[in-house]
Amino acid sequence: MQPVKERWMRLIAAVGAVIGLFAALAAWHPSGLYPWFKALHVMAVISWMAGMLYLPRLFVYHCGAEKGSRQSETFKVMERRLLRGIINPAMVVSWALGLWMVYDGGWISMHWLQLKLLLVVVLSGVHGMLARWTVDFANDRNRHSERFYRIINEVPAVLMVGIVIMAVIKPF
Ligand code: HEM
Repeated sequence: MQPVKERWMRLIAAVGAVIGLFAALAAWHPSGLYPWFKALHVMAVISWMAGMLYLPRLFVYHCGAEKGSRQSETFKVMERRLLRGIINPAMVVSWALGLWMVYDGGWISMHWLQLKLLLVVVLSGVHGMLARWTVDFANDRNRHSERFYRIINEVPAVLMVGIVIMAVIKPF
C-alpha cells in the first residue's frame, strides 16, 4: 500500500476504534465503575506519554546511523513496534475512556476540561507527525536533522505539564 494511503487508513482505523469503544461504554453506562475507568485512563496516558517521549529520542539516534546499516534497520523495527504496539493503542484507549468520563461526569462546560482537550488535540497532532516521520525513516526518506528531533522531543513533555495541571488541579 502507498505510504500516504496507509497513513490515512490507520488514522481512520484509530478514529473508528475511539468512536466504537466510546459508543460501547456509553451504551453500557457503567457509572459505578467511573473510578476504575479513571484508573485505566491514567494507565493508558502513562503508556501513551512514555512512547511519545521515547520515539523522538529514537529518531535522534537514528539520524546518526548510516542508511542501510544494521543499526538503522534495528531502529526501524524499534520505531515501528513502539508506534504500533504501544503508542497507537494507548492513544485510542486514552481518548475513548477520557471522552466517556467527559460524558458520564458532565464535565464538558468546565474551562479546565476545554483547555485540556485543546492541549490533547495538539498532542494528538504531534502523534500524527511522529507516525509520519516513522514512515519516512522506514523508507530511508528522513528530511530532518538530529537537532530538529531534539527540539520536537520537548513538545510532548511541555504539553503533558499543562494537561496534567488541568486534570488534577482544575484551576478554573
Ligand atoms: C485523550 C483525551 C482525554 C480526555 C477526553 C480526558 C478527559 C479526562 C476526564 C474527563 C478525566 C476525569 C476528571 C475527574 O474525574 O476528576 C480525566 C482524568 C485524568 N486525566 Fe485525562 N483526558 C484525556 C487525555 C489525558 C492525557 C493525555 C493525560 C496526561 C498526559 C491525562 C491525564 C489525566 C489524569 C492524571 C487524570 C486524573 C485526574 C484526577 O483524578 O485528579 N488525560 N481525563
